[in-house]
Amino acid sequence: MLCMWDYRKVGTRICVCFDVSNTDALQTWQETPSVGELTRRYSCGNNCGMCIPYFAELLAEWQRGTWPATGA
Ligand code: FES
Repeated sequence: MLCMWDYRKVGTRICVCFDVSNTDALQTWQETPSVGELTRRYSCGNNCGMCIPYFAELLAEWQRGTWPATGA
């Protein structure tokens, strides 16, 4: 079966180890736009670290205004 996990889809869990979604990230970044803040608040990256590149990409896209997509 093809994996359809889409880290850009709003509401998707990004950090499996600590159950943190990209929605949690968006709420955090309204106040403090950094991946480190996610680690401080939710411990993201403090176990396997697999989520960090995804959060970093989402933060970059959010700051460019390209994520989350509007409309559809
Ligand atoms: S997926 Fe985030 S620390 Fe493992």
